[in-house]
Amino acid sequence: MEPVKTIDEMKKIARRVHGEGKTLGLVPTMGFLHEGHLSLIRRAVALCDCTAISVFVNPKQFVSGEDLDKYPADFERDRDMARDAGVDFFFFPGVRDMYPEGFQTEVHLPGMSKRMCGLSRPTHFQGVATVVLKLFNIVRPDVAVFGQKDAQQSVVIKRMVRDLDLDVKIDIMPIVREPDGLAMSSRNTYLSSEERASALCLYRSLEKARAAVEQGQRFTENILDIISHVLAEEQKVQTEYIVICDAGTLEELDALHGRVLIALAARVGKTRLIDNVIITAGNDK
Ligand code: PAJ
Repeated sequence: MEPVKTIDEMKKIARRVHGEGKTLGLVPTMGFLHEGHLSLIRRAVALCDCTAISVFVNPKQFVSGEDLDKYPADFERDRDMARDAGVDFFFFPGVRDMYPEGFQTEVHLPGMSKRMCGLSRPTHFQGVATVVLKLFNIVRPDVAVFGQKDAQQSVVIKRMVRDLDLDVKIDIMPIVREPDGLAMSSRNTYLSSEERASALCLYRSLEKARAAVEQGQRFTENILDIISHVLAEEQKVQTEYIVICDAGTLEELDALHGRVLIALAARVGKTRLIDNVIITAGNDK
């Protein structure tokens, strides 16, 4: 595995790989890798001749008061995990390199960035779209792999790729969970053991919603009730939003039909967590 520090170096490598007629996969991350990230890496390795991972804690996607300064990091562990998973290029640009003096261009998707996570993080998706477009321009991947864990992010990136005619295939991998159901996240390290136990209600509430849909429940309001009741049982959990929407467009639904995304965000103590499920709801009842 080749560590790559500068944008110029990464561009050169991408040109070389494409010049050799090989395909290149990219897995963008903010580091502190876990099994969720590794599942994306393995997918890219399986799909492409060469795989690059980017590790960049992107300041533009943190809103003020968030955890940018204490975002967990372990460079050596990330490097070893990436190498063992089959990564060829470990791209870790610096903030000054990505956002030099005078930087001002932003990619903004005003419609879908405002709802859900955008309510409490108004500039978040602007920061994500901007950095992901930069990474696509630098690495020129044939395939980029993202996780369903960040459902809204996946939709935003797919929309950007379609809107701007980007020549990259977006591949979305399922959420990887701990054995007890907690969705893996770099931010789980912030949780005390008590908070971690409380956080299990996120997954529990989504599973209860899934069961209700499987039993024929199709009314959004009823599903929202089921979820909020489960979340309300935990004192340490403050619900931020629960949304039931079309999985492809994020348009909210009054009744469940087709591919439906049920997504939520909650604070457990001071830590903000997100989780979701996708359910296909037929018109059977
Ligand atoms: P980060 O939170 O490090 O996540 C990197 C990728 O891993 C994202 O596509 C995310 O959805 C995926 N991922 C995280 N936890 C996962 C899990 N439990 N199961 C499956 N996939 C999971 O998302 C970002 O970084 C940033 O916003 C980024 C896209 C890198 C732009 O800065």
